[in-house]
Amino acid sequence: MSTIAEAPIKVEDLEKKGYLDVEIDPTLDLVAEIKRMKKEKNAVILAHYYQESEIQDVADYIGDSLGLSQHAAATEADIIVFAGVHFMAETAKILSPHKKVILPDLKAGCSLADSCPAPLFRKFKELHPNAIVVSYINCTAELKTLTDICCTSTNAVHVINSIPKDKEIIFAPDRNLGAYLEKKTGRKLILWNGTCMVHEIFSHEKISRLQVQYPQAKLIAHPECEAHLLNIADYIGSTSGLLKYTKTNPATQFIVATEPGIIHQMQLASPDKLFIPAPPNNTCACNECPHMKRNTMQKLYVAMKYEMPEVILPEQVIRDGRASIDRMLEISKEAGL
Ligand code: 13P
Ligand code: SF4
Repeated sequence: MSTIAEAPIKVEDLEKKGYLDVEIDPTLDLVAEIKRMKKEKNAVILAHYYQESEIQDVADYIGDSLGLSQHAAATEADIIVFAGVHFMAETAKILSPHKKVILPDLKAGCSLADSCPAPLFRKFKELHPNAIVVSYINCTAELKTLTDICCTSTNAVHVINSIPKDKEIIFAPDRNLGAYLEKKTGRKLILWNGTCMVHEIFSHEKISRLQVQYPQAKLIAHPECEAHLLNIADYIGSTSGLLKYTKTNPATQFIVATEPGIIHQMQLASPDKLFIPAPPNNTCACNECPHMKRNTMQKLYVAMKYEMPEVILPEQVIRDGRASIDRMLEISKEAGL
């Protein structure tokens, strides 16, 4: 047990940095402490597959955006500690408004959510007054208040197919997922021009070279990737879809075109298979999401200890945003997802 006292917390850092800046005793067993606090505070840790592996290892549930929403809606814990990005924690708050929702770093944002500010979108929507609005869950809570049905990459095809054929559909904010959905459903969508900064910079050239080097490898890609990559992929799916594919497909080598955090679960499930992160158009060997990676074990520990920073939403946003998420969950349930 530690004997070195922690420096006092600096709450003002929350404003500046988005997390509590606390010096932690380096000898502290963070895993043991986090597990102890989970029990003591009746807290649940929900982690996305893109979190660093140590965080995934202490989580109670690891999943894709749909699974995380379903768990946030169903949990009986008093505190939801969300190891993911801001829009995910907001969704958890909308679904469980009476629970305390903690995000280790409030600045863990998302380029897709940032690409679609609600005031601009409201104007865009006015240009198409009869259209049904489908928003990818990777958007702000405020955007959800302007949305008819939310979707994730797991249920997006079902959501689009649930809308009568004679209705116009606006799809925001991801133009790549939107274009993929147009292809899968045969529907014309009115697309918002947003992208994910991670999935739009995979290098076609470097991936083609990897395919020559590993001719047996399957190329698997998330639908947030650009069409030129999706066109050459052996399988396209959400993070949970990609994970399932690597477990069930007899191939033993996979080039993984999504954020490489998911490879931790792939490797745990299939220790004898080879997973190669698809490289981006820069000097990095893999393509990490800087937003997801803002969460660290240290920040997770401090957030649980002080129960801060908390995600707070205006009542009106919770009320008006909820219907679009509830509709998504209903459609997912009907589809057995
Ligand atoms: P899913 O895990 O739902 O496939 O979403 C991927 C993603 O980019 C989350 O930010
Ligand atoms: Fe947003 Fe892309 Fe990061 Fe997911 S991977 S949180 S979509 S920026």
